[in-house]
Amino acid sequence: MSEAVLNNIKTRRVVREMTGEPVAREQIEAILEAARWAPSGGNLRPNRYIVIQDAETRRLIRLVSPGMFQEAPVLILICTNWDVAAEHNLPPTDRALLIDVGTAAQTMMLAAHALGLASGPVTSYSKEAVKKILNLPESYSPEMFICIGHRASTAQPGMRAWKKITWRDLTHWERFK
Ligand SMILES: Cc1cc2nc3c(=O)[nH]c(=O)nc-3n(C[C@H](O)[C@H](O)[C@H](O)COP(=O)(O)O)c2cc1C
Repeated sequence: MSEAVLNNIKTRRVVREMTGEPVAREQIEAILEAARWAPSGGNLRPNRYIVIQDAETRRLIRLVSPGMFQEAPVLILICTNWDVAAEHNLPPTDRALLIDVGTAAQTMMLAAHALGLASGPVTSYSKEAVKKILNLPESYSPEMFICIGHRASTAQPGMRAWKKITWRDLTHWERFK
């Protein structure tokens, strides 16, 4: 086990204040390439990613996203492609679809952190408005934004600083008595 991997996992924090500095295209591609290696239920790969850098599109998205505090130069929207789900007879209630969003999101954020970039997930936004802004096909549903940029020196510590949770608080061994 590489210490560098563990350190990357432990030191990643959601960043809600970013500078306007752009993110290099190669770095965006490296993040997308990392996400391609995220585990996926049945290896079905139902996620599709929309990369948004256009300033006006980002402005419109922020207007309909109360949970998006950062002005990130890059937004990656993780979508579910329902055509893929239907092809494999996955009902919309199948939880693997949402779990896939989580594995892709965490992989992207860890990749961004490894590249020295800041990131933050956002689920608090109007799905309907985002679908319209991006002209998404019917078969795509927006699931989670990953904001990517450079951490501002003024960025505040996130909610994790409010309470310390250890792995012991979250874990049961073997079976309940
Ligand atoms: C499913 C999910 C939805 C989230 N939605 C938002 C959001 O809309 N806006 C936001 O600023 N942070 C959002 N977060 C980030 C969490 O608040 C953050 O991960 C948590 O406070 C722990 O902080 P840390 O990741 O920096 O350790 C979300 C995280 C997850 C896993």
